[in-house]
Amino acid sequence: MATKKIQVISHDEVDHPTHELALSVLEGLSNRPKSLPSRLFYDDVGSDLFRQIMKLDEYYPTRCEAEILEKQGSKILSHLKETNFNLVELGCGDGAKTILLLKNILEQNKSLKYVPLDISKAAVESLLENLEAEFNELPFDVQGLVAEYFQGLTWLTENVAQRNLVLFLGSNIGNFNRPMALRFLRHLWHSLNDGDLVLIGFDLKKDLDVLYDAYNDKKGITKKFNFNVLDRINQTLGGNFDCSKFQHQGLYNIQSGAMESYLISQEEQIVHIKELGKDFKFAPWEPIHMEYSYKYLDQDIQFLSRSTGFEILENFTDEKGYFVDSLWKVKK
Ligand code: AVI
Repeated sequence: MATKKIQVISHDEVDHPTHELALSVLEGLSNRPKSLPSRLFYDDVGSDLFRQIMKLDEYYPTRCEAEILEKQGSKILSHLKETNFNLVELGCGDGAKTILLLKNILEQNKSLKYVPLDISKAAVESLLENLEAEFNELPFDVQGLVAEYFQGLTWLTENVAQRNLVLFLGSNIGNFNRPMALRFLRHLWHSLNDGDLVLIGFDLKKDLDVLYDAYNDKKGITKKFNFNVLDRINQTLGGNFDCSKFQHQGLYNIQSGAMESYLISQEEQIVHIKELGKDFKFAPWEPIHMEYSYKYLDQDIQFLSRSTGFEILENFTDEKGYFVDSLWKVKK
């Protein structure tokens, strides 16, 4: 009988959510240019909006990656010689794409323990529900972890002796800037054993209109996803942001190669945040930077792997050549 557990690893966002939010908002809105960290997108409402984004016609990354996992899953798994291993997923969300890979693994008669990790408990719980709906009787053990990435990596080092295949899908890495991506990947390398495998989703550079549409969708869901952060500040910290006085815009930065999301103040205004006891002044057309979504070339992927101690085994691309799942091996 398969076992199914969820472990919550205590972290500040779980233990002191209001305090953590207040610190991030104080720091971000005191920055010049003003910014808010993109992790603030993912409260329950924001996670639901992100699930809606993933279904949008314009938001191609999810479909491209699902195509890769569905059509090339067996090729990806052929690099894994062991029949018994841990499948660890960082930032699992609702796991819809991973289910495609899980089916493939079971068809190959491999046995696994699945360790999905997410900062949101609601996400891990809904993933477990999705797994139950998909498989009548769970054919593998599941150990859900509610934790930050780095905590999850420490948990791995302390708890896991078997071969690991770590998934970091959906171009989540694109939300890190270059130094943060290097730091994250080196930390990942450190947590794993020689020969472990990592599958990382990278969104590739492409026609700018395709990028623009993906981050400025016609239904305005991405706009709602951004405004939800202001609503969250209003509700949790007693802010008085008026969303109608801000405009959302996703822009491609040709120097850095990232889509960048902004909320732009359409007029001079003062926003008061009670919990911080502070006013924040906005000049007309002053932006708040909300998110980076870096896009990559092949050579960027090579640079990131080489600089952090990994060897690229194979790159798996969708038919349009929009997205890559890159399979790396830990070299120690
Ligand atoms: C989660 N992350 C990889 C998404 C991205 O494309 O950067 C978040 C997102 N932001 C706007 N649309 C989707």
